[in-house]
Amino acid sequence: MLNLIVVKDYDEMSLVSANWLADEINKDPSLVLGLATGGTPEGLYANLIKMYKKGSLDFSSIKTFNLDEYVSLPRENESSYYTYMHNHLFDHVNLNPNNIHLMDGNVTNLTIERQRYDQLILDKGGIDIQLLGVGVNGHIGFNEPDSTLKIDVHVTRLAKETISANARYFNSITEVPKFSLTMGIGSILRAKKIILIADGEHKAKAIKDLFRSEVIDPLKPVTFLRLHPDVTVIIDEKAAKEIEL
Ligand code: PGA
Repeated sequence: MLNLIVVKDYDEMSLVSANWLADEINKDPSLVLGLATGGTPEGLYANLIKMYKKGSLDFSSIKTFNLDEYVSLPRENESSYYTYMHNHLFDHVNLNPNNIHLMDGNVTNLTIERQRYDQLILDKGGIDIQLLGVGVNGHIGFNEPDSTLKIDVHVTRLAKETISANARYFNSITEVPKFSLTMGIGSILRAKKIILIADGEHKAKAIKDLFRSEVIDPLKPVTFLRLHPDVTVIIDEKAAKEIEL
């Protein structure tokens, strides 16, 4: 079930989604949150930090799991998702460091790492709320369009469109890692609730696929969200351009 909220622009998307998430955290202060990176959630995280600083949000019992991480990029690298999360959220709120979970894409044995992460999610009782963005090519997490999609945490080769889109976070496009670890489609769909946010015309095609595709299509990974019973989609008018309301 998709619940659609269309707002004016990026700032409103960031505020409405932050309020939505804050309500959930206030209802259950020990939630397990699945978190996303990229340009889209930066404003949402900034709003959560503001609420925390005002005293209206408490992260002390929240647990977090990130969706994905580049392979072979040290955590200290300024473009790693580890660094992103610390800069955009973790270093500014009262999360217990023991409750923060990220994949490590720079280990020698990626098989052990992905099994460790799958198990850790299970051990913590599963993800209550998963925050998602969507790629221009319809990817969720780093589940790129393909003839088949993996269920659990796995290593994936980044699509050309993803490498181009993410080049802005690196000195040059050649520095963008070619592989990443990501939660699989099953890991995402097992979350009890999902919130997807998107803004801008470049996301309109992926949003159209999400709402209008008549089939579940691994070449359009976002369509798998149609199988989930509780997805809230908060997007701006530009991203909603291709769906008739
Ligand atoms: P973006 O990425 O927020 O930087 O547009 C979204 C995604 O790739 O899921």
